[in-house]
Amino acid sequence: MKKSVDFAVVGSGIAGLRMALELIKLGSVLVLTKGKVIEGSTYHAQGGVAVVFSELDRPKYHFADTINAGDGLCNPEAVWEMVKDGPKRIEELIDWGVRFDTDGAGYNLTKEGAHRVSRVLHSGGDATGANIETVLATKIRNSAIELLEDAYTYSLIEKAGRVLGVRAVSGGELIDVFAKGVFIATGGVGQVYLNTTNPPVSTGDGIYFSFLAGADVMDMEFVQFHPTSLAADIFPRFLISEAVRGEGAVLTDHKGNAFMEKYHPLKDLAPRNIVSIAIFNEMRKQDISNVLLDISPIGIERFEERFPTITSRLKNLGIDLSTMKIPVVPAAHYFMGGIRIAANGKTSLKGLYASGETTSSGLHGANRLASNSLLESLVFAKRAADNARHLRKTPVKEIPLPDAKGREIGNAKEIISLIRSEMEKNAGIERTGDGLRKNTELFRDLWVEYGGVTDLKLENVILKSFIVNGFLISHTALERTESRGAHFRADYPFTNNRTWKHHIVLNKNLFKWIR
Ligand code: FAD
Ligand code: SIN
Repeated sequence: MKKSVDFAVVGSGIAGLRMALELIKLGSVLVLTKGKVIEGSTYHAQGGVAVVFSELDRPKYHFADTINAGDGLCNPEAVWEMVKDGPKRIEELIDWGVRFDTDGAGYNLTKEGAHRVSRVLHSGGDATGANIETVLATKIRNSAIELLEDAYTYSLIEKAGRVLGVRAVSGGELIDVFAKGVFIATGGVGQVYLNTTNPPVSTGDGIYFSFLAGADVMDMEFVQFHPTSLAADIFPRFLISEAVRGEGAVLTDHKGNAFMEKYHPLKDLAPRNIVSIAIFNEMRKQDISNVLLDISPIGIERFEERFPTITSRLKNLGIDLSTMKIPVVPAAHYFMGGIRIAANGKTSLKGLYASGETTSSGLHGANRLASNSLLESLVFAKRAADNARHLRKTPVKEIPLPDAKGREIGNAKEIISLIRSEMEKNAGIERTGDGLRKNTELFRDLWVEYGGVTDLKLENVILKSFIVNGFLISHTALERTESRGAHFRADYPFTNNRTWKHHIVLNKNLFKWIR
């Protein structure tokens, strides 16, 4: 099937939906999404949205906290755009019907790790993402935007450096969508790890197919591990929000000893990378498979009222909250790397724009400040769509395309499991040159073997995306012979500003074997 539209948006999380709502002012819009509309990370966001919304806060404080957390690699221009435009984007959400929690004194703001003041707005306690996604999805359904669910995009249509559309599959059928502009918002890549808080759709597809079409990617070594996912046998791992520590909970070992004061003056509210590494160290030193989050400083009643989503999930899983201890373990959570974009949302390819977790503008540097990503997605989605204004007069260009090709394989699931465990082992919280080298060799071999399998099956596309993303993460982590932010090399434990205070940008041209 062939379709022609002014603007094609891939992904229906906060970034994709926000771009679509702006693009419809310029022309016709088709949103393609892999599963049902709400099936992305956005829906699961708990903690909230960091934004300057209180008398005690200032844009320059939010700017400085973001820069400090980013450990020397934040792009100040991008940070400033987010901080400056953030309040306007949140006011819009409020106008559209998102209800952020209030108390007698106005909006109720929580303090999360590495924020100097309370600045995290939340909705429904810990249902912030679900409430935002529901409002945006309803607005989309009530608009002229066409939404195609259960349609996964597997490649870009590109000619001579210009993106002309996307190739997707829906119900086993190939759909070629030609458009004036293509907007990628496919979210993160957490699923490439065994332990992740990310939902099943977060498989890095947009990064994979944009890279293959020739787009630059950046900061691929920087994967953020959240310190506190529930230590239970469930996949994806269920998040226990940082806001729980923001409200007073304390990390302890199994003997009840709090340990964060040994690692950072901000203790349990230190930057996320420091808390994750501290937990990892304690688990290894004490030979334990998890640590505990002591919620007694919050009290059970307040906990249940402030965190209804977490409470209900824990109860359903049979976890007894009256012990006041939640078993937690770090898990892959957020990707600072991705398709390189400028502060106006443009990628390195003509006609290709992107926003949200699939991108890297350098805003988050080497370590994202907690609750900055929903805000980033809103701000940069609007900017990307605004910058597509000049495409209105560009004609949609259709070119002849071959049928989907590729050979069948029967064992994609097994290879996917292998990749997840090798990523966990060799490209996780603690990395070494030996492990990373092993990964790069493995992924090169896997691409030679499986790079040519058919795209008509979603699991094959995920397999190819994992091979390419796994390779790019491992390759850049091997190249960066220092430790910085979320990237910790046991064989290079110190930050080396003289050599490494810069981003690593990669393009397919560097790897002759990826075709
Ligand atoms: P997503 O919301 O993940 O949406 C991606 C979309 O792309 C989905 O619709 C998916 O189906 C679609 N897609 C993927 N591949 C394809 C394909 N091949 N073809 C078509 N469609 C495709 N951040 C905060 O700021 N505050 C928080 O409190 C917070 N809490 C979080 C809690 C959890 C459990 C998680 C996992 C993340 C949290 N984050 C939080 C991070 C934040 O939620 C994400 O960074 C943000 O929602 C990303 O939005 P997005 O639109 O880029 O991606
Ligand atoms: C959380 O609620 O801890 C997640 C916040 C985030 O990832 O920004």
